[in-house]
Amino acid sequence: SRTIRLASIPGDGIGPEVVSEALKVLQAVTEGGDTVFDVTEFSLGAGRFTATGDILTDADLEAISGHDAILLGAVGGDPRDPALRGGIIERGLLLKLRFALDHYVNLRPTKVYPGVPSPLSDPGAVDFVVVREGTEGPYVGNGGSLRTGTPHEIANEVSVNTAYGVERVVRYAFDLARKRPAHRLTLVHKTNVLVFSGSLWQRTVDAVAAEYPEVAVDYQHVDAATIHLVADPARFDVIVTDNLFGDILTDLAGAISGGIGLAASGNINPDGAFPSMFEPVHGSAPDIAGQQKADPTAAILSTALLLDHLGLPEESIRVTRAVEADIEGRASASTSGHRSTSEIGDAIAAAVSSITASSSR
Ligand code: NAD
Ligand code: IPM
Ligand code: MN
Repeated sequence: SRTIRLASIPGDGIGPEVVSEALKVLQAVTEGGDTVFDVTEFSLGAGRFTATGDILTDADLEAISGHDAILLGAVGGDPRDPALRGGIIERGLLLKLRFALDHYVNLRPTKVYPGVPSPLSDPGAVDFVVVREGTEGPYVGNGGSLRTGTPHEIANEVSVNTAYGVERVVRYAFDLARKRPAHRLTLVHKTNVLVFSGSLWQRTVDAVAAEYPEVAVDYQHVDAATIHLVADPARFDVIVTDNLFGDILTDLAGAISGGIGLAASGNINPDGAFPSMFEPVHGSAPDIAGQQKADPTAAILSTALLLDHLGLPEESIRVTRAVEADIEGRASASTSGHRSTSEIGDAIAAAVSSITASSSR
């Protein structure tokens, strides 16, 4: 049998609520199989910072790095707490992990599942993946302010884009587009204004495209991309984009595909030098935290991405099927009553187990 060491970081707000359900489903899908998940929980986030002053110590990072994969709920404390301003937890924990573990691919698939009430009246067959760069762009913290707090303040935030960093994520996106049935890749940027980074991204895509003649390539400015994502999202297959544009587009993608409570993601280190980290796209949702109101589906679908990444495609498909079945049922009268976070987790875990039983006959 194979033992997989999983680091779990439930985090803040609804993070612990949704991670419990994801672990429940992980347990159900591995039950009776050859693979065992050995889960170590790390208590990190706003609660720990407030109690101890620590966000992510070198010892934490080293311990986490020794795992095969990471499952994260959400981080970010109460927005009214002045001690947490400036995204101190988000940067010191989430972004630090993405950078330290070289998660240069932030993979965010979007699908409109049958039965999902999309806010779009006729979304069509939506099935695309945003390949968001994860270690560069405006996220690197390269900035500062001069004459802070005066009327002459100058605040700079420099977006860092390296040829190495852009090429590796663009190559990943082309490889993905080649494997997917539609073979389409869209670069999204703002090359009409951000000329230096835009030029690097465009030249990189043009150069790599020559090696992938089967992939149809196009380009959209990010503002126009938001129109197309709402007006005709089915046109997209693989979108490759910078860290900040990818952040914004994937909340929009979550909204059109039936809600942020369904949007999953993987922070991938494709080389395997470091553990990859899987997490819902959403945050800690302080407005609904602690009330069993959060939809755990995004965390559960993130677990499906984790299983696939770890070379367990059958388990991944079973989790996805169970989620699809649950979502379809949500549209029908039988489950239209309001379910708690753990009731949704229980239902998906039960569905996963029944998929095992029927497929093993
Ligand atoms: P958010 O995603 O936490 O919440 C936005 C809205 O979506 C809220 O109305 C919330 O109730 C709802 N929502 C989110 N997840 C849901 C779920 N699973 N089920 C049902 N409804 C859900 O975004 P925000 O309010 O901008 O951020 C709150 C905190 O989370 C901030 O501190 C932010 O920095 C942090 N954050 C963390 C992550 C992360 O850990 N990956 C991601 C985004 C935001
Ligand atoms: C996300 C979040 C993070 C991001 C924040 C919390 C730093 O919004 O994972 O989408 O901007 O990447
Ligand atoms: Mn985001």
